[in-house]
Amino acid sequence: MKKFRESLFNFETFDIKLDTEFIGRNFIYSEEVESTNSFLLNNAEKLDVNGTVLLAEKQTRGKGRNNSIWHSNKEQNLTFSILLTDKKYFEKFFNIINFATSLAVSQAIENIYQLRTELKWPNDILINHKKVAGILLESSSKGSKISKLVIGIGVNVNQTLFQGNFNIAPTSLKNELSFNVEREKTLAEILNIFESNIEKSLTKPDDILKDWKLKCRMIGEIISISADGHVKDGIFVDLDNEGFLLLKTRDKIEKIHFGEVSLL
Ligand code: BTN
Repeated sequence: MKKFRESLFNFETFDIKLDTEFIGRNFIYSEEVESTNSFLLNNAEKLDVNGTVLLAEKQTRGKGRNNSIWHSNKEQNLTFSILLTDKKYFEKFFNIINFATSLAVSQAIENIYQLRTELKWPNDILINHKKVAGILLESSSKGSKISKLVIGIGVNVNQTLFQGNFNIAPTSLKNELSFNVEREKTLAEILNIFESNIEKSLTKPDDILKDWKLKCRMIGEIISISADGHVKDGIFVDLDNEGFLLLKTRDKIEKIHFGEVSLL
């Protein structure tokens, strides 16, 4: 029997826990790629199986939101992307798909580790006000039509030290639990819940929105939102049915499409 170094991914353990019909059934494991999102987006012809998952032990240029770099130590965390090629998902508001994903990560962490998570608009997953995971959704088009959707997920699992400047302080599952976490079980649980959430986002998008809002503790609070160098303050009154943030400023309610939110 082949022995894996302890830090490497054990496919058998992952496969036993994976309980999906199509998500992750085509599973690609890579030691190193530039970015799992870019790889799935740029290899359109060869990679078209709906539900393909690409997991990389290291990304040399992992992408974060707002053109940032996603830093993640080699072999310690989960950096992976899910490919959706079935057109039925493209008809949905992307925000709902984003919410279905962040909800899946949050529910998986709560189910396995009994940690309380919080969701931050648009799609950060926090534990004790620190960021444990982030999501980057990208699409590619043929002509004017979307041909694939790539959902990139980065979860800080066993990394304990983080260097750099962060909008929100980072944490990891290990930092919160004080023990090493099994990446295989964590990934399988995220994918299991993701598959059910992504179907729900088509049939019952209001349920996804409702569940997401229950985990977002900033609703009702006074917040500051910055986007493109502009900062706006107001009350985070609600999300609309497309998942955009409704901000009450002095005399009106504004619909916010993107930005970095912080509590005032
Ligand atoms: C964020 O800024 O919060 C989004 C982070 C998304 C990181 C993940 S890691 C796997 C996938 N590939 C990438 O290049 N980015 C995403």
